[in-house]
Amino acid sequence: MDAAETGKATMASLIQDVEKSYEDELQQLVHTLPKEEGLVSGSIYLYQGFWFPSLALKPMISFQRHFQAFDSDVIVATFPKCGTTWLKALTFSTLYRDRFARDEHPLLASTPHQLVRHLEFDVYINNPCPDLENICVYKPRLLATHVPRAFLPTSIKDSKCKIVYICRNPMDMFISVWLLSNKLRDENQESLSLDKVFDKFCRGIHSFGPFFDHVLDYWNASQQYPDKILFLKYEDLKEDINSQLKHLAMFLGVPFTEDEEKQGVVEEIANICSFEELKELQVNKEGVSVVGIPNKDFFRKAEVGDWSNYLTPSMVERLEKLMHEKLDNSGLTFKLSPKIVQDDNIGFA
Ligand code: A3P
Repeated sequence: MDAAETGKATMASLIQDVEKSYEDELQQLVHTLPKEEGLVSGSIYLYQGFWFPSLALKPMISFQRHFQAFDSDVIVATFPKCGTTWLKALTFSTLYRDRFARDEHPLLASTPHQLVRHLEFDVYINNPCPDLENICVYKPRLLATHVPRAFLPTSIKDSKCKIVYICRNPMDMFISVWLLSNKLRDENQESLSLDKVFDKFCRGIHSFGPFFDHVLDYWNASQQYPDKILFLKYEDLKEDINSQLKHLAMFLGVPFTEDEEKQGVVEEIANICSFEELKELQVNKEGVSVVGIPNKDFFRKAEVGDWSNYLTPSMVERLEKLMHEKLDNSGLTFKLSPKIVQDDNIGFA
């Protein structure tokens, strides 16, 4: 056996050992955790204050233990159904814009989730020590996660790598999750009742929740470390994508030049990443994601305020009260409808 083969064999057996030890360790851990039924299948577990789907728990722990951040890394962090697909497309297209021409843009042939791979739902799902150099075709490395800030590997927190976070008003986010979960359930499963899922949401019992804890931790950190964490809101992107894109480029250290602005590069990126464009691409109409979500289901309606078609007045009242309780004094506000009306902003100090 030559050195290369020995090295490969050592690594393979190391990976096997690590996986095996995780199985035992994880099994023991899982038995001790509070558990609830997941919305689609499997369970969600309460681990150190947050609820995780069973699928994400093991890869998340691998990610936490083994990921070594580079100062140049960019991490797209999001709460599920808050605009992950959009932010992946925008960050990819902004960061690597000098690498390809418009007609050979990688988004024409790959989904945003294939281009910006998810750490716990893809990269670490079957492998505790993935080869990130090969996984990230373009450099600097660009990866994504839903994990709460407190669960990020120490090297992400300690390095100079940048985090771009997006969230969305909880009413639209909730409706987006509820509708998607119902779609993903088997035909022989009962539909998820809006009442029950809403009640659990308000009690913080949902994947990667409590929502407000997730969002506020990234929000507070973004206020403290503005060069490290850029905090974006879905509603702001919907309102003025061009200025948000300029802000994103500046934060990533690749501001648009005057020439680029004159040539319409900002508008071009906004256009190729738009809901209307992405939704119509063949690659986003067929196939499934790594965890089996049909690619087309990442594109539904993309509106601000769609919650008003589903939530009852008493649900709205309950969630508004919760938003006040959680957000007052934080400085974080959410727009609940597309109109920019002062009264629609909840969470003002
Ligand atoms: P709706 O269900 O309200 O339509 P995520 O990407 O985090 O899973 O979020 C999905 C939500 O973002 C869905 O919201 C989806 O329609 C919307 N979305 C997907 N791509 C988008 C894009 N390019 N621009 C704006 N919204 C988008």
